[in-house]
Amino acid sequence: MTTWLVAGGAGYIGAHVVRSLQAAGAQPVVLDDLSTGDPLRVGVPLIKGDIADTELVVDTLRRYQVAGVIQLAADKQVEQSMRQPLTYYRRNVVNLLQLLTAMQEVGVAKLVFSSSAAVYGMIEGDDVRESDETAPINPYGETKLIGEWLIQDQARAAGLRYAALRYFNVVGAGSSELADHGRTNLVPMVLDAMRRKARPVIFGDDHPTPDGTCVRDYIHVSDLADAHVAAIGALAQPGASHVLNVGCGRGYSVREVIDMVAQVSGHPLDPIVGDRRPGDPASVVANTDLISATLGWRARHDLRDMVRSAWEAELRTASLPSPAPSPDASGSTSEG
Ligand code: UFG
Repeated sequence: MTTWLVAGGAGYIGAHVVRSLQAAGAQPVVLDDLSTGDPLRVGVPLIKGDIADTELVVDTLRRYQVAGVIQLAADKQVEQSMRQPLTYYRRNVVNLLQLLTAMQEVGVAKLVFSSSAAVYGMIEGDDVRESDETAPINPYGETKLIGEWLIQDQARAAGLRYAALRYFNVVGAGSSELADHGRTNLVPMVLDAMRRKARPVIFGDDHPTPDGTCVRDYIHVSDLADAHVAAIGALAQPGASHVLNVGCGRGYSVREVIDMVAQVSGHPLDPIVGDRRPGDPASVVANTDLISATLGWRARHDLRDMVRSAWEAELRTASLPSPAPSPDASGSTSEG
């Protein structure tokens, strides 16, 4: 059985990747500093530590005879990256360099890298292809793009095989214990507002989109995790190098997402329209032709599945207000 090191495997996405690897018959080992991750999610050997600790990584790669690395150990909050750029460059770029150094020392030459749609910045047109211009508008997106460059250069110089997966908006949960504990993205924030009996906030409804709210490409976290397994398969070829969008290939507006939460939960929601959030592009939708042609992968879950799985996880872990008597959300302000 092949062993893969999942750096950041105690996090929300990483823990789903671990499950997908197991389902595919691979043997995951997790390296995580537990800065945001949860050891209870892991369920496979866990080494607590930092990818920057070259000695520890070298030792781990050797001890477990690791075939390749899935690198998700990074910081991911756009707004925080604007306030703490040095932290983001250190953790997302310098630490990646350290990880690549350890991999080179041991001769581990396969890498799946967690990149982001944030590398594109403001997007023009209906959807975005991997060959389109990259122009990140925040340090988070910059560090992901620099990470891709670093990996490409190392591939050219040292024969590293890689897949850089540009994640779009990740939602949902494969099971309640793997749910997103974060409170910075749209669906978790809507659920959080429900828990506080507050109204969700829409960051601006004057964007140049059909209903004025921002449009994003949402992807179920289990589909995203499966894309990592598909990417591993594509690294069998010597010289393999792939940069791939991972999304559904269709956009939903913030209003549509909030409406879906109301439908799925049976809780009427009456969002407040606030100011635009600085740095939010109006519309970010993936073109997924390349990933389906390269990996034969495509998303299986739609927005309803994503929201339902997030809601079910929430029901098991939080005390939410009782559902309204009627699931029809129209016109009600009872969540106000
Ligand atoms: N939004 C609201 N209200 C909220 C929370 C979010 O209206 O309470 C809106 C945002 O303005 C945005 C959309 O919902 O238009 C999605 O926001 P998220 O914060 O969930 O996600 P982003 O699109 O801002 O960012 C996500 C990832 C980033 C990644 C980026 C790439 O969180 O890590 O996609 O496009 F960089």
